[in-house]
Amino acid sequence: MRVTALLLAAGSGQRFGAAEPKQFLTLGGRPLLRHAAEALLQEGLVDELQPVCAPEHAARVAAILSGLPARPPVAGGDTRQDSVRRGLEALARSDTPGLVLVHDAARPVVPRGTVAALIAALDSAPGAIPALAVTDTLKRCAGDAIEATVPRDGLYRAQTPQAFRFPVLLAAHRAGHLGATDDASLLEAAGERVAIIPGAEENVKVTIPQDLARLEQLRRATLLPR
Ligand code: CTP
Ligand code: MG
Repeated sequence: MRVTALLLAAGSGQRFGAAEPKQFLTLGGRPLLRHAAEALLQEGLVDELQPVCAPEHAARVAAILSGLPARPPVAGGDTRQDSVRRGLEALARSDTPGLVLVHDAARPVVPRGTVAALIAALDSAPGAIPALAVTDTLKRCAGDAIEATVPRDGLYRAQTPQAFRFPVLLAAHRAGHLGATDDASLLEAAGERVAIIPGAEENVKVTIPQDLARLEQLRRATLLPR
């Protein structure tokens, strides 16, 4: 079955606060976007990438992905959910895959074996995500006052890539629940099962400068795969 990965690079990186969106910042001399693309392709299980980015970055994104099996970029939207929807609709118009992965360009490290485990999980569920059990104690606060300590049993941090049977994810996006920060939540809202596979600490979503500094340290200590 054909497998296409949406590579989300249409954000502006407000929290990071750099002069350009974080997906263009470099780790070991290569843009995060290039790391993310190579990480998705490393196991040879993804046939093609579909980048999603701001129209003014299309040429730059295509250049960063040169030499890789990538379709021309499609224009993203105002929210992550809009950007995914636009990518899916582009795939629905041509070369529709059987399976689709959705990945943040701001996540440069996807451990080997992740994509295989996700695809295997799709045999028994229409969606699958990597996730890590929460280890810190959680507090719900209002302003600076603690309202409650939230039991962390059963709480997980969801990562990407997330994998789906293409028609199920497309239908979930077209159903249009608003405000989703990941794709699995749209399947959950539609009553579809989402399987969990083990996530990884090194699969950091670069959000603030400290995240990139931590990845640089891991890279220098050769604790990253590449
Ligand atoms: N993304 C996207 N389209 C959007 C918003 C986000 O494609 N309208 C992508 C980002 O490029 C990133 C991923 O979704 O790869 C995760 O989003 P996030 O970490 O929130 O990135 P930004 O939105 O760029 O950062 P911020 O929220 O700090 O502005
Ligand atoms: Mg954002």
